Amino acid sequence: MQKRNEHIRRIEILLEEIIKKPALHVKWLNTLSYLEHMGAKKIHKANLGLYINERILSHACEEARHAYFYKKSIRKIDPNIPEDFNYSYINLIAGFSSFKYFQQLDLEVLKYLKNFFKDSNKSFLSFLCYLYVTYLIEERADMVFNIYQERLEKLQNPINITSVIKEEEKHLKEIFDMIQKFDPKYDQHLMELSNLETNLFDWYLNRLEKVVFRSSEGLTTVH
Ligand SMILES: [Fe+2]
Ligand SMILES: [Fe+2]
Repeated sequence: MQKRNEHIRRIEILLEEIIKKPALHVKWLNTLSYLEHMGAKKIHKANLGLYINERILSHACEEARHAYFYKKSIRKIDPNIPEDFNYSYINLIAGFSSFKYFQQLDLEVLKYLKNFFKDSNKSFLSFLCYLYVTYLIEERADMVFNIYQERLEKLQNPINITSVIKEEEKHLKEIFDMIQKFDPKYDQHLMELSNLETNLFDWYLNRLEKVVFRSSEGLTTVH
């Protein structure tokens, strides 16, 4: 709980700083778009076999739509942003760290689950890994997106992400239902995996803070 409160405070300060600086805000929106795009890609690349269902397909669609939503929101900050403003690290905030946070979480969750589900088939393990990684990411997104929306309103910024927040809340609930259904020991696993994600996020937040507070123009070499 103490760590959670500390993270909330640090995210509030970070996002306020980002929103106040258009050059950083553009990169922040692009970073969110990149993470959403990674989320959609991961669902398609995961080897889920027969575990693919209607909910998972709708998650994949919605994550892809969120990627587009954040990308097109950039124009509200900078209408002249070029069409080819891509996901290269220079256009993101802590781009490599954003990539690493997601990849590392995936790897560590899979490693953790392998110990408990040694005899399970590959599709089931991939499916469980998808469920837990998604749950952890959705929980983190819920925290970050809500703070972001509050700060956008406070600073009277034209961007509004409440529709994305609603869909992420729905994902969180649906994923939790599936975890409960497929893993009888979900409470123990969720507790341990949440700690793992908290440590990774702490590292990622540090990287974001370094970039945002060390650069006045939003130009930096920290990735
Ligand atoms: Fe999303
Ligand atoms: Fe989601």
